[in-house]
Amino acid sequence: MKIFLDTANLDEIRAGVEQGLVDGVTTNPSLVAKEQCKFKDRVIEICEVVGGPVSAEVTATDTAGMISEAREISGWHQHVVVKIPLIPAGLSAIRVLAQEGIRTNCTLCFSVTQAWLAAKAGATYISPFVGRLDDIGHDGIELVAEIREAYDQHGYMTEVLAASLRHAMHVKQALLVGADVATIPFKVFQQVVKHPLTDKGLSAFLADWEKVKDIV
Ligand code: E4P
Repeated sequence: MKIFLDTANLDEIRAGVEQGLVDGVTTNPSLVAKEQCKFKDRVIEICEVVGGPVSAEVTATDTAGMISEAREISGWHQHVVVKIPLIPAGLSAIRVLAQEGIRTNCTLCFSVTQAWLAAKAGATYISPFVGRLDDIGHDGIELVAEIREAYDQHGYMTEVLAASLRHAMHVKQALLVGADVATIPFKVFQQVVKHPLTDKGLSAFLADWEKVKDIV
């Protein structure tokens, strides 16, 4: 499962990339707004730091507007993947963009039938929002598992990008149900590597080594 960082913060992205485990980045208008930066400049900066796909979202809501924005945004850098909302106009835009070879991440997916339509339209990625489903009492991970099953059964190549992952348990579940990508906030990225028994065990090993290292 690939790891994308779900942030528009450059320091977080640099730190993740330095570890060598980050495959890409997803942004959305809310994440960009938190950074108070110029959208185009920030997308290009992120692309230059990350050696992989960087999702940048359109804000038009009609097909022609989304296509026009997507053509522009995709020209900013070779790593850009254009994020398109999963609404009827968005599916029509994805169809046209796929024919032009422009990669898309179909976002705000909350049902398996929506995910099916995105795949039929030719989306490169589908983003089921796990945390937001959990927020309203539905099982977000179950949706990721259903999409995986449906895509495998029908041979769709659209990659399943588990989004709106809020904690380490979400990441573990996304891994186990076969998501192709998990996009995670930087804080969660730091949490998943940690285990108190690893730290405790390492301290004990190093303390014991101190007792024998000078013996010749
Ligand atoms: C990523 O592509 C999504 O925009 C993001 O994961 C949404 O996460 P949230 O539901 O925590 O805002």
